[in-house]
Amino acid sequence: MAAPLRHRPLLLAVVLLISGLPRPAHPFTELESDQIARFQEYLRIRTAHPSPDYAGAAAFLLPYAASLGLHTTTLHFTPCKTKPLLLLTWPGTDPSLPSVLLNSHMDSVPAEPELWSHPPFAAHRDPATGRIYARGAQDDKCLPVQYLEAIRGLRAAGFAPARTVHISLVPDEETGGVDGFEKFARSEEFRALNVGFMLDEGQASPTDAFRVFYADRLVWRLIVKAAGAPGHGSRMFDGAAVGNLMDCVETVAGFREAQFGKVKAGEKGPGEVVSVNPVYMKAGIPSPTGFVMNIQPSEAEVGFDLRLPPTEDIEQIKRRVKEEWAPAHKNLTYELMQKGPVMDVAGRPIFTATNESNPWWSVFEQAITSAGGKLSKPEILSSTTDSRFVRQLGIPALGFSPMTNTPILLHDNNEFLEDKVFLRGIKVYEHVIRALSSFQG
Ligand SMILES: *[C@@H]1O[C@H](CO)[C@@H](O)[C@H](O)[C@H]1NC(C)=O
Ligand SMILES: *[C@@H]1O[C@H](CO)[C@@H](O)[C@H](O)[C@H]1NC(C)=O
Ligand SMILES: [Zn+2]
Repeated sequence: MAAPLRHRPLLLAVVLLISGLPRPAHPFTELESDQIARFQEYLRIRTAHPSPDYAGAAAFLLPYAASLGLHTTTLHFTPCKTKPLLLLTWPGTDPSLPSVLLNSHMDSVPAEPELWSHPPFAAHRDPATGRIYARGAQDDKCLPVQYLEAIRGLRAAGFAPARTVHISLVPDEETGGVDGFEKFARSEEFRALNVGFMLDEGQASPTDAFRVFYADRLVWRLIVKAAGAPGHGSRMFDGAAVGNLMDCVETVAGFREAQFGKVKAGEKGPGEVVSVNPVYMKAGIPSPTGFVMNIQPSEAEVGFDLRLPPTEDIEQIKRRVKEEWAPAHKNLTYELMQKGPVMDVAGRPIFTATNESNPWWSVFEQAITSAGGKLSKPEILSSTTDSRFVRQLGIPALGFSPMTNTPILLHDNNEFLEDKVFLRGIKVYEHVIRALSSFQG
């Protein structure tokens, strides 16, 4: 029943007070409300490490995809079969064309509930701001729901893709992908998909331009060991092991400052420089109470996490390590461990071109424009994603999560995604999937 006219201003004031912000009470269509609800449902499945509920995720995603008419397959790359990899397929009208793969990982990093303002697995939606709070809201459980809802929209519009579109939902990305995409990329099943191009997760953008990632940095580990003459703690002499190690650490620190300086000055993004950070140091002679304090030890050691943009001159970095960071004449030896290859199967550096030499890039860029969006300058991701396994095969892959005007909260407390941003992402994927799956090149 309508309130008497004279009470209306008061009622309005009360409503505004309760809601905090003047958002309309029913801003969404029924379909949009359902889409938000499906996102929340997926977020409530606890796929965080250390014990991700992959069975729960599969029980949600497989019938969801089947209800949209997609074919579903479950692959296993572990003998215990506790880490399913789901493949959802929308067959194209021309199976001779290479397919489009849309990837997403099902797992997420753990959350510490006591540090969150809302429980991290409740997917609470704040009615005032539209923010949906949950571990995985940005990284990256929005993606499969957006992919599937975009397909729903395209099907409703009568669209039929020329290329087959696959969605892969993989386990264990957050723990390195060993039992997930790494094994998948090496499998016969992957080869049979004949993937021409892949889209994988990217990151939120605090501005109104979408971010896109065309490479991951290479991950290396460097261990430097120093030797030197031992001696009494009271004696000053040249050539002690710790002194030699300090020379190495100082040289590396100088290089690090120069690289970091370019990031601080805004000249380069954090993924576009070589990062090197000491992660452990080891020296000294243990004693029952700690360390012997009056002997200078004959050995010392330091470990570095070293990450390189694939566009870097790799041989030059190797020379720098050998000649400047750990020169043998200073009694230094080193071990350089490279995780993963430096070149793809065709012997090229591992990145996806973002110019007209790569037709997939042009199709993608055009689709973003047609969706009313714009892209910021393509970036190299400073960490790693599953995309690297695909790029290593020489297949182009871009990292992209359609989240603009959103703080970067992956792996952080109070990770959230705003409902409207989530919904806009569905529209963006409608354009992107339509364009990629229609591409005839
Ligand atoms: C190298 O180590 C040896 C002992 O192992 C020591 O005698 C020598 O002075 C050291 N030289 C340098 C340059 O540190
Ligand atoms: C496109 O980018 C690649 C890789 O950065 C580069 O080698 C090539 O010269 C560029 N081609 C054109 C046409 O700009
Ligand atoms: Zn992720």
